[in-house]
Amino acid sequence: MANSAVCDLGRATTPQGPLEPDFITQITDEELTDPQHKHWGRAVLTNSRPLQPAVRMQSNDYLSIAGDPRVSRAKANILTEVGHGDAISRVFSHAKEDTHRKFEYKIASLMQAEDAVLVMSGYTANTGLVQAFSKPDTPIYIDIMAHASLWEGILCARAKARPFRHNDVQDLRKKIRRYGPGLVIVDSLYSTNGNMCPLSDIVDVAEQEGCAIVVDETHSFGCHGHKGGGMAVAQNLAHRIHFRTVGLSKAVAARGGVVVGSARNMEYFRYEARPMIFSTSVLGYEVAGFNAALDIIGSEDWRRSRLHANHRYLRTGLLALGYDVTESDSQIISIITGTLENTVSFRTFLDQRGVLGSVFCPPATPQNRMLLRLTVNATLKAHELAHVLDIFAEAREKLDMKGWPTLLQ
Ligand SMILES: Cc1ncc(COP(=O)(O)O)c(C=O)c1O
Repeated sequence: MANSAVCDLGRATTPQGPLEPDFITQITDEELTDPQHKHWGRAVLTNSRPLQPAVRMQSNDYLSIAGDPRVSRAKANILTEVGHGDAISRVFSHAKEDTHRKFEYKIASLMQAEDAVLVMSGYTANTGLVQAFSKPDTPIYIDIMAHASLWEGILCARAKARPFRHNDVQDLRKKIRRYGPGLVIVDSLYSTNGNMCPLSDIVDVAEQEGCAIVVDETHSFGCHGHKGGGMAVAQNLAHRIHFRTVGLSKAVAARGGVVVGSARNMEYFRYEARPMIFSTSVLGYEVAGFNAALDIIGSEDWRRSRLHANHRYLRTGLLALGYDVTESDSQIISIITGTLENTVSFRTFLDQRGVLGSVFCPPATPQNRMLLRLTVNATLKAHELAHVLDIFAEAREKLDMKGWPTLLQ
C-alpha cells in the first residue's frame, strides 16, 4: 500500500491559520502521515475507483425504500405546507399530539412496546439510554461486539463496563454472579459480522439474575418480526425486555433514532437523557418521512421475503466457494480479510469488477481482524447476485488468500 496515499494532506496547519500547539499537530500527523498505519481509516477508505455500473452492497437500506416516492412526497408536502418545523431541543416540545409524538405511538405499537421516544440518531439513542439509566456504580454487562455508541453511553454514565464474550451466555451469567445485578446490553444482530444474538437465552439469564436488559435492534427492525417490528417481536420477547433502541438509518433509510420501553421509563428518558436536552430534535418534515416509511415497512411483507431469500442465496453460494460465512446468518455478510494488505487488495479487486462492499477497520474492528462487509437488500436482482458470486470465485483463483481467516480449509 503506497504510503503517499496517506500523506497527501501533509501537515494540518494551513498557511493562513493560527499557530497551532504541537499536540494538535502530533495528533493529526499520526493519522495523516504515520507509516505504521496506526490509524487505518484514511488508508483504507480512500483512493478507490470502482468500476461503474456496480452492484452496490454497501448501503443499509435493507428494504430498498430509500428514494421511494411515497416517502419523498410525504416530506415535500410538509415542507411546502408548514416548513421544516422547529429546530429546537425535544425537551421543549412534548405536546401530546404533535407529529413527533404521533410517530412515537406508531413505532411503539409496531414494536409491541408501551411507549417510544424519538431521538436524532441511533447513536444518541444508545448514548442517551445508557447514560440515563445507569449510575457510576451500576455494573454494565455488554457483549464485546456491541455497537460503539453503547460503549460511549457507558463512558457518559461513568459506569463500569463488565464486558462478556461475544454471544456467550455462560460468561454473562458468570460475570453477573461476580459483580451483581446491573444492565445487560446486546445488539439483536451484530453489524460487523452479521451474527444473530441468542436473544432468548440472554433474556433468560438477565431475568434470572435480576438485571435490566437493553437490546439494540438497529439492524433487525424492519427486517424481522410481524410487520418488521424487530427481533424481540419475532421471538415473542418484547414484554420481557426493558429497553430497545433503533437507528432509523437502516431499514427506515433515514436519519433518526428511537428508544422504546415502558411509559414510565420513557417519560423519565424524555426529560433526563442528555441528547434530549442538549441537542436539536429531528425536524417535522423528517418525521413525515419516517411515518411514510413505517407504512411501507408494516404493509409490504414481500420486501422482507425478498431480503431473506437474497441473503440466503448469497450465503449459500459463498459457502460453496469456500468462504466461511457461517457466522453471518443475516443480510450482513462479512469476509474477514485480516491485515491491511489483504483488505486493500481484496477491496481493489472487487471494486475493479463492479462489486462494492464496505471495508471495516480499526476502531470498528480489532487490529488485524479487518473485514469486507456486503449488505444485501430486497431489490438486488438474480443476475447481480450471480455476478457477485462470479467475482468471488475469480478472487479465489487470482488472489493469494493463504491464511485468510474467512476461508474454509
Ligand atoms: C448496531 C448499531 N447501533 C447504532 C448505530 C448508530 O445508528 P445511527 O447511524 O442512526 O446513528 C449503528 C450504526 O451504524 C449500528 O450499527
